[in-house]
Amino acid sequence: MISFDPARRLFHLRNDHVSLVLWLRPDEAGAEELLTAYLGAALNDPAVCLPLISQREGASFDSLRQVLPYACPTEGRGDFRPALVCAEDGQGQRCTELFYESYEITSGKPALEGLPASYVEDPAEAETLEITLRDGLTGLTARLRYTLFAALPVIAVSVLYGNSGGEALTLANAGSACLTLRGRYDFIHLHGAWAKERSVERVAPAAMTRCVSSSRGASGHEHNPFAVLAAPDATEFFGECFGAALVYSGDFLIAADENAFGTTRLTLGLNPRTFRWRLAPGDSLQSPEALIAYSDKGLNGMSQALHSLIRRRVCRGYWRDRERPILINNWEATYFNFDQEKIMKIARAAADAGIELFVLDDGWFGKRNNDDCSLGDWAVNREKLPGGLEGLAKDINALGLKFGLWFEPEMVSPDSDLYRAHPDWCLHAEGRRRSTARHQLILDMSRRDVQDYVIEAVSAVLRSAPIGYVKWDMNRNFKEAGSELLSDGRQGEIGHRYMLGLYRVLEAVTAAFPRVLFESCSGGGGRFDAGMLYYMPQTWTSDDSDAVERLRIQYGTSLCYPTSAMGAHVSAVPNHQVGRITSMRMRGDVALGGNFGYELDLSAQTPEDMEEIRRQVRQVKAIRRTTQQGTFTRLQSPFDGGITAWQFADGSRVILCAYRVLNRPNAAPASIRLQNVPDGLYTAPDGNAVTAGDLMRAGVALAFPRGDFASCVMVFEKRQ
Ligand code: DGJ
Repeated sequence: MISFDPARRLFHLRNDHVSLVLWLRPDEAGAEELLTAYLGAALNDPAVCLPLISQREGASFDSLRQVLPYACPTEGRGDFRPALVCAEDGQGQRCTELFYESYEITSGKPALEGLPASYVEDPAEAETLEITLRDGLTGLTARLRYTLFAALPVIAVSVLYGNSGGEALTLANAGSACLTLRGRYDFIHLHGAWAKERSVERVAPAAMTRCVSSSRGASGHEHNPFAVLAAPDATEFFGECFGAALVYSGDFLIAADENAFGTTRLTLGLNPRTFRWRLAPGDSLQSPEALIAYSDKGLNGMSQALHSLIRRRVCRGYWRDRERPILINNWEATYFNFDQEKIMKIARAAADAGIELFVLDDGWFGKRNNDDCSLGDWAVNREKLPGGLEGLAKDINALGLKFGLWFEPEMVSPDSDLYRAHPDWCLHAEGRRRSTARHQLILDMSRRDVQDYVIEAVSAVLRSAPIGYVKWDMNRNFKEAGSELLSDGRQGEIGHRYMLGLYRVLEAVTAAFPRVLFESCSGGGGRFDAGMLYYMPQTWTSDDSDAVERLRIQYGTSLCYPTSAMGAHVSAVPNHQVGRITSMRMRGDVALGGNFGYELDLSAQTPEDMEEIRRQVRQVKAIRRTTQQGTFTRLQSPFDGGITAWQFADGSRVILCAYRVLNRPNAAPASIRLQNVPDGLYTAPDGNAVTAGDLMRAGVALAFPRGDFASCVMVFEKRQ
């Protein structure tokens, strides 16, 4: 899969789907620079791309530097495009030259120290190429690591930066990956805000730098650490696309720079705006990992590659491949206003409907009856729950439900015993105010003592009762971020040190409780990224659970993330976020596209709605293996108006889900053609037999009920 041609100085990473060609090209003084000569569909001979780069040889070296596809571009060398790395010496001089030193090819994929990353279970699943570059003057080294997965069009890229010199360096930029493609590309990204996360935006080619980023201390609601370069004619089903996702949950920058010479450079990694890192002699810094997926079958092909990798080789643990339990969460049913009796009433109705897990949300600890206190005081409130968590969990278990619990472990309320005891434990900048958001401050997760406190505080609660699920929330972003322990000009390290500390905590807690299902959350989907999914295999997709809004949110999220990662719940009407009234049927039909659950007062539903809920629960149990682990295909986009549709398929069934938001008078009959249906004969919902080919060629008629907010889910069971 990975070969090196010493004569032509070419590395070729190739499988059946994709080729990446790296070239060691001598500069004017004969030192070798590393170039990304090609990325795209699998090549036979990697040397075919060399003339495409060298055709500018007529140009002077000066102008050539502006076009060469450097794999690890630095500052101060006349490249002028966004760089991947910037290292300052003691005088603040930023000019560095990275030349080839050595390479190594190994089978499998090494782990990234302290960071989430994709992995293999068998060394035959992947091969890894490591190329070391070095700057002779400062001693800066960059070890670029490229892992090609054997069965997928995906390459994982990261860089280990080091200081082999005698003086300290400061990294002002330490990116993860840089790729240069020939041609112009649409830039597709996912943007939004609280309750409207991950809308798809497609920006036409432009001779400029288009970028998305976060400087919030979390990947954020606003931009996702994921972007696509797509050929302007690429659709969901046709054309070339390059998807790039960071396996990281903090500040990031993804930039696509198009120059006047017909090339587009994509760089991604830590956000230089909020990042600095002191590299003492002998020190090293590992960049987060970037996942690069190639597709010549449109956006669906790219998404399916990322889904496979993230679902099976980023997510880990007991729950990775298991069907996820149907849950009821009390947040929108009660908010902070609950007691044991109210909870048990909802739990009894849930048990009666066949639901499998009860999740007790915010408000169970300290004196927390609203959001202005008690974060950090993780002791049960016995006024609300006289039997404690253990008593409640046992009562809920007795109904046949598992018990789950909400935490927000990274936070502290100023009105808490924890803050009174340790006012120095929160992020703060000396001499500045400590601004709260939602009345809370952020614990300084860069500190070992704070990390150890959080590990023990959460673990103690998990040991105290039979808790089978944890919702790990995080409800505010950084302001005045600094750490009391960072001295010597190192405050610029806080964002990344926070993430490293958080990852250490998540590793410790999830490893200590391997059977607990962890779901991450950040005011809904404010930290929905592959980094969090490494520790917790599912994320609460959005606080907006309105069925119509969720079509856009889940569709956009699916560009990168598998449905097994998305929490999707049926909530009350009028919807608490937008006031819309949709049918129970449509709410269920939208939520079954993720990890299904309810977020309403089940003890206050009409008999008709309860009957529909029982039907939904039975249906989800029957098909969730396919909806959570099968192949997901987007058919029609909610961003185009009209009907939204998507499809799930595995060896046993195909499920078509279609949604019509607003009805129109005198409309043409609606139908849709399925895609990539596995060969065979299927039983249609009406009992008739239908072939895979006919489902794809002729399509199926969509039988929407009359009126607005209509949905139609059709299950085609494969005949054996
Ligand atoms: C934000 C989450 O997204 C909600 O689901 C809920 O858990 C609240 N926090 C609780 O404070």
